[in-house]
Amino acid sequence: MVRILTLLWLGVLAVVLAPLAVFAEEGGEAHYPLKLPEKQSWSFSGPFGTYDLQQLQRGLKVYKEVCSTCHSLKYVSFRDLKALGYSEEQIKAFAKTYDIQDGPNSEGEMFVRKGLPTDYFPSPFPNVEAAKFANNGANPGDLSLMAKARAVSLPFPALITDIFTNYNEAGPDYITALLTGYSDPPEGAEVAENNWYNPYFNSGNALAMPPPLSDGMVAYNDGTEETTENYARDVSAFLMWTADPHMETRKKTGFRVILFLIVFAGLTYAVKRRIWNELD
Ligand code: HEC
Repeated sequence: MVRILTLLWLGVLAVVLAPLAVFAEEGGEAHYPLKLPEKQSWSFSGPFGTYDLQQLQRGLKVYKEVCSTCHSLKYVSFRDLKALGYSEEQIKAFAKTYDIQDGPNSEGEMFVRKGLPTDYFPSPFPNVEAAKFANNGANPGDLSLMAKARAVSLPFPALITDIFTNYNEAGPDYITALLTGYSDPPEGAEVAENNWYNPYFNSGNALAMPPPLSDGMVAYNDGTEETTENYARDVSAFLMWTADPHMETRKKTGFRVILFLIVFAGLTYAVKRRIWNELD
């Protein structure tokens, strides 16, 4: 009996200590990201959060004037922008500012025409190879779903507590941190050629995207300060919307469903009491 218990204890010890041994072995190796993103406060956080349309409009402007030179947004159509508070006329005018390749025409030729509200944001490069060639071999990914793709859980204990605090904004937090996080590499850090040091980057200490934002580069017409920090936050909020356009409806429906279930639970309990009262 004692022997079995000892064996059991040894087993438990092995399970607990094994991961520690792995950590110790990796020792000197760096883990990415080197720095965790700071949690920002967003209008769309929490169970009742909503998008700030002014902020999304500013974010769209930052995407169009800066990010769209390298990144596509292929799952978003111009008419989707209605959700940002634009009228049909404004959307038509916005779509017209883009050239779209269409065709073939009756002679079998492809042709270029002005954008229509039903078109999707065009890609800045004709294919992935061209995109890589223009960017030191790295492909600037499509941004439509980036805010969800980079919504990486923070390490324990946040991994658990974030479930209870309803934390759902890891994606925009990461994008904001990445866009504002470029710095000079610390002494001794090895940075690959044509890469820029950024401790927030998810898969290395540097990436092939040069710092895209700087103060004053995009004109805002609603009085918001034209700073790198604001551009980064606004474009991150915009990318959260492109990745999760129906968030508000989902949250509202969720709340109503919970309310209904509470009322329903009360009713069920009342019925149960009534039936069992009669049988006593
Ligand atoms: C000069 C071209 C260029 C511009 C402008 C640019 N990017 Fe990038 N971006 C890249 C490249 C190239 C990569 C891939 C980097 C890599 O994997 O090393 C990238 C990667 C990214 C990533 C993914 C990082 C990851 O974790 O994999 C995000 C997010 C991103 N860019 C957002 C933006 C936003 C938002 C803007 C506009 C403010 C922007 N980029 C402007 C070239 C650009």
